[in-house]
Amino acid sequence: DPELIAAGEKVFKKCAACHKVGDGAKNATGPVLNGMIDRAAGTVDGFKYSKPLAEMAAGGLVWDAASLHAFLENPKAFMKGTKMTFAGLKKPEERDAIIAYLATFAE
Ligand code: HEM
Repeated sequence: DPELIAAGEKVFKKCAACHKVGDGAKNATGPVLNGMIDRAAGTVDGFKYSKPLAEMAAGGLVWDAASLHAFLENPKAFMKGTKMTFAGLKKPEERDAIIAYLATFAE
């Protein structure tokens, strides 16, 4: 849905201080978000994750639409101790939009 993707590009401004996407994107405060949909959590090369994220990843966490909704709504509630210091996207439509936008970036 091109409109949802365009909306997601705007929402990404809230992420862009810490995350990069697209060709040549590099890890920053947060990991590169290319290829994140249906990817095992905690697997971006060269990024040092927090212990809680590494533990949830070891427990089998995969970033699909459901887990991304839960995480992005309230990162610190979903993952106690995460170093992603972001209040969250409270509106479900913003989360749908960012997920659609991220899905446009393959690994
Ligand atoms: C981790 C998405 C905003 C910093 C992650 C992960 C995702 C994500 C999917 C997990 C990556 C993985 O498992 O490889 C987003 C989205 C954002 C956002 C969509 C905006 C809506 C931010 C902001 C910051 C940030 C604003 C910095 C203030 C981080 C950090 C991690 C992370 C440091 C690693 C967390 C840990 O190891 O506990 N983000 N993020 N993110 N993000 Fe964000």
